[in-house]
Amino acid sequence: MNVGVLVSGSGTNLQSLIDRARRGELGPARIAVVGSNVPDCAALARARAAGLPTFVVDHRDYSARAGFDRALMTGLRAHQTDLVVLAGFMRVLGEEMLGSFPGRIINIHPALLPAFAGVRAQRQAYEAGVKVSGCTVHYVDGGVDTGPIIAQAAVLVHEEDDEETLRARILAEEHRLLPAVVRAIAERRVVIEDRKVRILGLSPSGESLRSL
Ligand code: GRF
Repeated sequence: MNVGVLVSGSGTNLQSLIDRARRGELGPARIAVVGSNVPDCAALARARAAGLPTFVVDHRDYSARAGFDRALMTGLRAHQTDLVVLAGFMRVLGEEMLGSFPGRIINIHPALLPAFAGVRAQRQAYEAGVKVSGCTVHYVDGGVDTGPIIAQAAVLVHEEDDEETLRARILAEEHRLLPAVVRAIAERRVVIEDRKVRILGLSPSGESLRSL
């Protein structure tokens, strides 16, 4: 299964995918291409350092989303992408992209959805004073962080936490959860019925997701 990863930022989730692919821990998934809307982001440098093909579609060059979407699709299709992984990709995708990869785009979000959708999820959670937060991998639909939830990992919020320490604890879980889900999808163990997603061969406690 060819995975196209879209990134905008530091790329630590991409790095986690790269590292696990190198160790043979992504099952039949391989990273085929990395695309970004930010020409000089650290994530792209990580992709190049790993010897992966990259492409840039700078959103500032497009006045309408459809053109931006089509350019992304061209970059992804050039590498026979089967699954699109948004790993810190900070643009909302339009109908064209969603339509051309139906049910084949996933996103990692740094909160336990449906709580704290949108930007600065960790800050939202911290400011709300929640005692538990975490991360969510979900299918992408037309809304912002509203698609069917595939898997989640929880972390405790400690009394002495600030926004940064909470962010770091969540990020460590992201680095485990995203590759585990990519592998499960590539192994065709992820089944979606309505909005309910099941991962076949997974214990109810999610232990096998953590074991990667
Ligand atoms: C992660 O927290 C991810 O959940 C969010 O953006 C951040 C990306 O971090 N969507 P990185 O670029 O993978 O380091």
